[in-house]
Amino acid sequence: MNNFLIDNISKDSNNSIKLLSTIHNSWRQRSMVGKETPDYLNYNVDKPDFIEELLPFSEHYIFNELDCSEKSKILSCGWLVYNEKTVCIESDIVTPSCNDILNNKIPGLSSPIIHKLVCETLVDEAYHILLVKNANLICQYKRDLKNIDFGEFSLADNLKREQQKHPEQWKKRLIQLAASIVSEIFVSDYLEQLSSNNTIQPFNQATVAAHRNDELAHSKIFTEITKQMIVKLDATQKEFLVRMLAQSVLWFANKDFDLWSRILVQLKIRKNKELINDCREDNEVALDKIDCSDLIDLCKSVGFFDQAWAIQIFSDLNIDVE
Ligand SMILES: [Fe+2]
Ligand SMILES: [Fe+2]
Repeated sequence: MNNFLIDNISKDSNNSIKLLSTIHNSWRQRSMVGKETPDYLNYNVDKPDFIEELLPFSEHYIFNELDCSEKSKILSCGWLVYNEKTVCIESDIVTPSCNDILNNKIPGLSSPIIHKLVCETLVDEAYHILLVKNANLICQYKRDLKNIDFGEFSLADNLKREQQKHPEQWKKRLIQLAASIVSEIFVSDYLEQLSSNNTIQPFNQATVAAHRNDELAHSKIFTEITKQMIVKLDATQKEFLVRMLAQSVLWFANKDFDLWSRILVQLKIRKNKELINDCREDNEVALDKIDCSDLIDLCKSVGFFDQAWAIQIFSDLNIDVE
């Protein structure tokens, strides 16, 4: 298919723009939009919806003493939570940043290629919301979990609270963008844990694999647009961005114990308070479950970690930059 932007791309474009052009050129082929969706007839009620290791309390004795039907309900809720977190990332984190870019509110990101890629990303993300909402609907019907109320995710909550601390619009937008960059870089790893697991529900695995296919491209897009933006930031903005990137890692890795507490109460799991309180005391943030290497590589490639203060910001939050 002819592509005006690709046909007219300048030979002098930098490497980021060239890479972004290639990703844009392959969007129709790569994107899951319009492709066949996972078949709900493959839903097998005898298979677990989720993996125990991803539950933030899977090693606690109270969870391990539960009977099979209680564990099965919790695993199904694990799947529902996983998908609702995806909806939160797509709608509350990434979409507002995409809108800021399209409205030319972010320095260095006004090129036509970037705007087209951002439009394609928005189409992908809207489709992912449809994909995971559909998956949750099927799970809720099959497992009789139609009335579970999740409430807010800490990721969106922490982001909003941080934005409220800063009256400056540029800071609010950089906070949003930092959370988007971190989410878009981490989300494919987050999805990989389920897309490569053969013990879970085949329908769920297929749903996650379809989503991950797009997110591998999004991770590259957000890495490259970050490089494009950073060269246009002044020293104060750069320092603020580094701080917010590091902070966003903790937000992304938060185990959402408040949300789980609400769910376990609704499922009437015995000793649920003790279970949550014990695990919360242990560790509120699962940094050990997060692979930060792509984010660290990005920070290195733009020279952030040539500065001792930037390394210090990450180490103060116990994020290993080596
Ligand atoms: Fe997505
Ligand atoms: Fe994405």
